[in-house]
Amino acid sequence: MCRPEFFTVSYTINPWMEPANPTDTAKAVRQWQALYDAYLALGHEVELIDPIEGLPDMVYTANGGFLIDGIAYGAKFRFDERVPEGPAFMEWFRDNGYDVVVPREVNEGEGDFLLVGDTILAGTGFRSTGDSHRELGEVFGKEVVSLNLVDPRFYHLDTAIAVLDPVEGPGGVERANIAYLEHAFDERGQAILAERYPDAIRVSDDDGAVFGLNSASDGYNVIISPRATGFEAQLRERGYNPIMIDLSELLLGGGGIKCCTLELRRGTEGS
Ligand code: ARG
Repeated sequence: MCRPEFFTVSYTINPWMEPANPTDTAKAVRQWQALYDAYLALGHEVELIDPIEGLPDMVYTANGGFLIDGIAYGAKFRFDERVPEGPAFMEWFRDNGYDVVVPREVNEGEGDFLLVGDTILAGTGFRSTGDSHRELGEVFGKEVVSLNLVDPRFYHLDTAIAVLDPVEGPGGVERANIAYLEHAFDERGQAILAERYPDAIRVSDDDGAVFGLNSASDGYNVIISPRATGFEAQLRERGYNPIMIDLSELLLGGGGIKCCTLELRRGTEGS
């Protein structure tokens, strides 16, 4: 995670960002701190990258790369404003013992790539390119399923899909379910998701529109926006434990809980 000490909205690269609207950096830090504290309370280890002045979107660490088994595939950002974040994150990965793969293709890390079981779901249409999906497949040797995003409000895959069961049990992946917003995908994408995840939670447009899916799950506890009340009820029905954390200030930059979190999958000795 990255403390949003320099958070503000000074440019527009997604429909949520309105530089004319004032932002409250202290409030962003307080809300971010609540998420950080929630992870610790749930027993997670959280590592921090130092924020860099002039890179207000660095708080959205999900975009900084994609990591499996100690290999960090770096990010190559679509928009100039965020391009310097790519090398900053790669430096952090290197300094912390990850093998870094410098990307050839434009991609925004875990914002667009989600590990579900042993498959990587990969978004394209707004940020990461289809070529990056191929590169990703080569780097990790896993199946990559490309999905086209069609609604500019849901410009990253992690705004339209929540991975509910990220945990592998001793016998492999025991459950690998997702929640998603149908209308964020083209028809082909909708058909793929319906076929692969027949038990998925399909959230309402209202819950999607408050970034309800931009959440973090450990397979039981699911940290979500308090505004996503329908999704909260759906999660409870399925036996999950929703925990509500409000990141309203960070939504002004077009990000939520998942955007502020990059999963560091270290490898066999732990995660
Ligand atoms: N302002 C940032 C951008 O448009 C928000 C990134 C949100 N991150 C995410 N993983 N969806 O790039």
